Amino acid sequence: MRVLVLTGAGVSAESGIPTFRGKDGYWRNLDPAKLATPEAFARDPKLVWEWYRERRQRIRSARPNAAHAAIAKLAQHADEFLLVTQNVDDLHARAGIAKEKMVQIHGDIFVTKCSRCDFLDTGRGGSPEPPTDRAAVPVERGRLRSIAPTSEDIVDLPYCPECDALMRPGVVWFGEQLPWKELQRVENYLDRGASDVVIVVGTTATFGYIVDWALRASPEGVRGELIEVNPEETQLSQFATQLVREPAAIAMPHLVDTILADHRTP
Ligand code: OAD
Repeated sequence: MRVLVLTGAGVSAESGIPTFRGKDGYWRNLDPAKLATPEAFARDPKLVWEWYRERRQRIRSARPNAAHAAIAKLAQHADEFLLVTQNVDDLHARAGIAKEKMVQIHGDIFVTKCSRCDFLDTGRGGSPEPPTDRAAVPVERGRLRSIAPTSEDIVDLPYCPECDALMRPGVVWFGEQLPWKELQRVENYLDRGASDVVIVVGTTATFGYIVDWALRASPEGVRGELIEVNPEETQLSQFATQLVREPAAIAMPHLVDTILADHRTP
């Protein structure tokens, strides 16, 4: 049984991670779509780093939920499996999905990368418990400098140890290219033929490539199932063979057990 799972922010909602377009998505009344951009970073790197550092801390304190666990279980039992997640958190990984079975198409929030050269710090964003003291002790490797030595809330920004340029979170921002190697991994999976089951969990499917991949993996007229797990309707809903209008942590354990029972080879 070939399985493709596509996830978005909704799969982490029950772990307490805000979605992008949900009512809890704003941060300090700022729209994430306005913060996750190269322009916002160029304009105010301190603000953008504060947002990412708060998100990193919230994710460190969160735990994978039953939906993450169910997807990991499906990954173990399917003959061929790929998870493509738009999420930059590490909850799928912490639920036990092997790296080779997962594509993080929008990057990894715990990676810090140079904004100019190819230096990369995958050090999981620093110590497990970054200090709560606002005069921030840095949490990223690299040369750190205080940018407001006079202000009370000093925020250190990481600079590249190789070329001294400012470093940034290792995620894809609006208007940026998707990571080529990760894209290739998705294409290679799709090129190997249709999936028996495609499950799209917790995403508005805002980006066309998500809809494209879901439809190419379960082409019209081929026996595959295209299941959407989302309390709300999305632009993918019209193509689904099954709609599960429930929260992912409630729906996924039962859905995965049903799929495994239906596809159990005699
Ligand atoms: P959105 O915030 O756009 O959508 C979250 C989806 O999850 C919505 O369709 C909700 O109805 C659904 N949802 C909420 N709670 C849920 C739950 N408990 N169980 C299941 N579904 C639930 O987030 P994404 O679709 O992931 O990109 O957004 C896609 C991309 O747009 C993000 O990766 C980010 C954003 O801009 C970049 O940053 C490049």
